Parts: sequence; structure tokens; C-alpha cells
Amino acid sequence: MHYDSILNNHGLPHDPFKAIVAPRPIGWIGSVSKSGVKNLAPYSYFNAVSDKPHFVMFASTDIKDSITNAEETGVFTVSLAVEALFDNMNGSSVAASSNVDEFKLAGLTPQTGKFVDAPFVSESPAALECRYWKTIDFPGSDRTKGTGSYVVFGHVVGVFINETFIKDGLFDTAAARPLVRLGYMNYGVVGSENTFSKNRPTLDKDGNLEKVKDWDGKYR
Ligand SMILES: Cc1cc2nc3c(=O)[nH]c(=O)nc-3n(C[C@H](O)[C@H](O)[C@H](O)COP(=O)(O)O)c2cc1C
Repeated sequence: MHYDSILNNHGLPHDPFKAIVAPRPIGWIGSVSKSGVKNLAPYSYFNAVSDKPHFVMFASTDIKDSITNAEETGVFTVSLAVEALFDNMNGSSVAASSNVDEFKLAGLTPQTGKFVDAPFVSESPAALECRYWKTIDFPGSDRTKGTGSYVVFGHVVGVFINETFIKDGLFDTAAARPLVRLGYMNYGVVGSENTFSKNRPTLDKDGNLEKVKDWDGKYR
């Protein structure tokens, strides 16, 4: 199979795009409306996009509460969605009206950020506090109708970590067991059973790759 992605003529019952670009991290976006209603929703078109400075993005298909709140208040948070909170995460994706507190709906405890005035999930092992930077409206988007695709960027200005998940000075991602989004209605979990460590490669004096040594626990 080799198909035209603009025509999307794959002939399959469902578009395989998201099943190929997988796994994707889930950005669990916390925000608050202008009138003070707390909002929470998962976004798998989400990622970290810059290390220095720390920036993240999430993409909204159509105008939804998270993008509206981020644009109107200038802040949002990203909580780590983990296996133990799957039902809460899934619950927070329901199409609730903008006057519904989705932390309450999903059975979670909001904690106001230390650096931004937006709530994050206090039960989550880690959360990022973000200042809204800008939105890129993708071609074909129409704000008058609220349709299209919108990429929201945020500058991470604060980081919350539940210190239970810090081991030997490192954030233990595998112990947190983050959920990842696959295609269709499929999910995965990152845990010690499917992660491993390897050192970066080095060259010998003749310019050939040396055998990669096991990681000694020092990040370089
Ligand atoms: C795991 C998961 C990932 C999702 N990813 C996205 C996404 O990347 N973009 C999007 O627009 N909606 C996504 N959704 C759907 C939104 O979470 C859903 O539309 C939600 O009601 C939006 O809430 P809001 O209006 O409070 O922002 C996802 C849902 C789930 C369960």
C-alpha cells in the first residue's frame, strides 16, 4: 500500500495516520476560564518542542475550551497522564459544557500553579506550568466557525514534581508509568518492562564506532 495522504485514499476503514505516528505523549491540559471555571482535557497532539527555553505545544482540532482559556488567560498547565489515572484522564476528555469543572467531573484535585494561575492535577507525578506564547492557525482553519486545527505554544516557567518519583537525582519516568496514545482507541504505558538505557556512541582513534558501553548512571 502506498497512498496519497492529501486525498487520504487508503481504502481502510479508518485513517492510519495516528497509528503510525505513535506513541504520542498525552498532554493533560489544565486551564481556567475567564469566569473562573477549571478545565481539564487530554491532548495527544502534544509534545515538548524546545529544550532551551522549555516550550511545549498542543494542537486543538476545532476551537475547544483549553485553547480558548489559554488564549484568554495567558496560562495553562500540563499534567503527566499516568496509568493509575487512566479513568480520570479518559473521563476528562468528555464533551462537557464550558461551565463544568472538569477536575471535579473526573474526580481529581486541582492545585493552583506556583508560577501561573492555572490548575494542575495534584495526583499526577509531575506537571508543567506554562505561559501562553502564541497560536498558529493551520491552513483551512476558520475562527468564525471554530473549525480547523490550531497549535498552541507555551513557555514552561514552572515544574512540579512529586518527589516520590525522584530516584538518585533523576525523575524516574518508568516508575511514573506515563500513558501514551497510539492510533484508534489504543493506548500504551511506559514502564520498566519496556524501557532500557544505553550510552551515546563514541569513535575510536581510527574513526570507527566503538562498542557502546552500558550506562553508568551519569547523564552526558
Ligand atoms: C487520549 C486523548 C487524546 C486527545 N487528543 C486530542 C488532541 O490532540 N486534540 C484535540 O483537539 N482533541 C483531543 N482529544 C479530545 C479532547 O480531549 C476532547 O475534545 C475534550 O473534550 C476537549 O476538552 P476541552 O474543550 O475542555 O479542551 C483527545 C482525547 C483523548 C482521550
